[in-house]
Amino acid sequence: MIELQSFAKINLFLHVLGRRDDGFHELETLFHEIDLCDAITLREAARTEIRCSDPSIPADESNLAWKAWSALASRFDVAPVRIDIDKRIPAGGGLGGGSSNAAAVLRGLVTMFDLPVEERDLATIALEIGSDVPFFLVGGCALASGRGERLMRLRTRLEWPVLLAFPGVPVSTPAAFAKLHETSWSEHMSTPVGVERVETALAAGAAELFRISGNDLEPPAFSLAPPVEAAVRQLADAGADLVRMSGSGSTVFAVFESVRQRDAAAARVDGLAVRPAILRSSAST
Ligand code: C5P
Repeated sequence: MIELQSFAKINLFLHVLGRRDDGFHELETLFHEIDLCDAITLREAARTEIRCSDPSIPADESNLAWKAWSALASRFDVAPVRIDIDKRIPAGGGLGGGSSNAAAVLRGLVTMFDLPVEERDLATIALEIGSDVPFFLVGGCALASGRGERLMRLRTRLEWPVLLAFPGVPVSTPAAFAKLHETSWSEHMSTPVGVERVETALAAGAAELFRISGNDLEPPAFSLAPPVEAAVRQLADAGADLVRMSGSGSTVFAVFESVRQRDAAAARVDGLAVRPAILRSSAST
C-alpha cells in the first residue's frame, strides 16, 4: 500500500498566445502549487477500481487517476490497483484536481512497482492524460508554455496567503477555449511576458504580477458563467493585491499581503463560498 498527497494549483496568470493545428492553444501560464490537497491510497487489488469520497466524480475509466493507471499498465508490468481518493479539491474548478491525482498516481505506481521509466518518458505519458498533468509531476512554481507542458521551474519561495472563492457554477474548459474566439481575444493576442519579467514581478510582489499579466480565459468564462465575474468583483473590493480566475475557472483566487488581511477579508465576504490557502513550494525545490 502507498499513500500519496495530491496538491492543487492555481494559475497566477494565463495568456493564450495562439491557436494550434492540433486543436489546442499555445499558452504562457504561471502555475503555482497551493496547500489544498487530496489524499490518495494505492493498494494492489483483483481488479482496478476507484473509490472516491465525492460521489459526483466519476469513479470509472474516465477518471484521470484511472487513465494514469491504464497508461502505465499498457506499457509496463503493473498489477490492478484500488485507488482511494479522499477529495478536498473541488472538481472542475480550475485547480487541477483531476490532473494532480493523475500525476500522483503515476508517481505512486512507479514507486510501487519499481518501474524502469525515465523522467522524460513519464512527462510524455502525463501529457497524454492532460495538459496540466506534467506540471504536477514537478509541482512548486513553474512558467509553462506549449499546451502547458514545457516547464521552466522557478526556484521561488513564495508563501503568499490566498483566498479561494467558489462561485458555485462550473465552467467547461473546452467551452471556455471555444468561447474565446467569440471575444476580442483574436484581435488582441497576448505576447509572452517572459521569464525575466515574471521573476522580477514575483520579487516585487503580487500587485506587480497583477499589473503585468492577466487571464485571457476570463472574458469567455465570465460570459459563460456570470457568477464568476461577480466573484472577481467581490474579492477586488476586499483589498487584495491580485484577484483573478484560475485556469478556465470557475475558482477565483485573491492574494493578500498578510494572513491577517486575508482572514479579515474572508470574514467580510458575503454569500460566496471561500477557503483560505497558501502558496506551496514543492518539496524538491
Ligand atoms: O489537455 P486537457 O484535457 O486539459 O484539455 C481540455 C481541453 O481544453 C482541450 O480539449 C482543449 O479544448 C482545451 N485546451 C486548449 N489548449 C490548451 C489546453 C486545453 O485548447 N493548451
